[in-house]
Amino acid sequence: MNLPDRPRAFLCRRFTPAVEAALAERFELVVNEDDSILSAAQISARAQGCHLLFVTATEPVTADVMAALSPTLAVVATLSVGHDHIDLAAARERGVQVLHTPDVLSDACAEIALMLLLNACRRGFEADRLVRSGAWQGWAPTQLLGMGLVGRRLGIFGMGRIGRAIAERARAFGLAIHYHNRSRLVPDLEAGATYHPTLEAMLPDIDILMIAAPGSPALKGVLDAERLARLPSGSVVVNISRGDLVDDEALIDALRRGHIRGAGLDVFANEPQVHPGYRGLDNVFLSPHIGSATHETRDAMGWLLIDGIEALRAGRTPDNLLR
Ligand code: DGY
Repeated sequence: MNLPDRPRAFLCRRFTPAVEAALAERFELVVNEDDSILSAAQISARAQGCHLLFVTATEPVTADVMAALSPTLAVVATLSVGHDHIDLAAARERGVQVLHTPDVLSDACAEIALMLLLNACRRGFEADRLVRSGAWQGWAPTQLLGMGLVGRRLGIFGMGRIGRAIAERARAFGLAIHYHNRSRLVPDLEAGATYHPTLEAMLPDIDILMIAAPGSPALKGVLDAERLARLPSGSVVVNISRGDLVDDEALIDALRRGHIRGAGLDVFANEPQVHPGYRGLDNVFLSPHIGSATHETRDAMGWLLIDGIEALRAGRTPDNLLR
């Protein structure tokens, strides 16, 4: 990859101080100082002349953006494992290399997955609100009874690195692991989990559905009314992937009826907007897309991108290059 000694880099969002300092040492850095979410048109206008474009999952890197930043743009580096916001076909066409941040965020995302699962099963939102409101009258034998985890069946949809990190933790809670993935894992990675060749086949056999499959146009609305109906009554749904995998109207209806006992959602279609139906429900625990949000993880994600760029400049192929 041919880049000037000090390539020009446009940073669409504010990264951690350590990562920004490392970027500024290496590149002529232009920063979107106020950390606002930029549209495709704004990126096209503001990143003119850049060789490196640093984005996150909130920035659409469309074919138009790449055309507008051509011919200087050589690398798009996204501070995310998900890459559904980047037109990879357009990048390939223009010879733009795309880097992302797999692996380093799996543990952090698995922690949030378990946080959502526990809160959905044990009624975390209602419990917190009861204490904060001052309405709590003290311990009671039938207060806020939830669903225990021991012996329950967790169905993980998407058994990549994050799915497996979730499974590892979930086993410690006594959950039996089921999964559906595009392909069956080798026995070592499967670690005794029960494989289901289709999502439809898995749904009737589980008590908790964990959505951990990568976002993609093919999976939009995959958890629809029909598939929700296949889950046993009283099941729990957790989503840490992308909001648009869930048909919000269908999930809200199932939560209202109690067919779905509770849900934990970290991601939403059209973020930062959240379907208003969720806000009025007590049996949903909501968090603002914080799967990878730890200091260590965000530093590690930034370093992985820097290392990837250095590898490309040295003529090597980094593991985090998307093809
Ligand atoms: C990811 O890494 O894809 C997370 O969802 C943050 O964008």
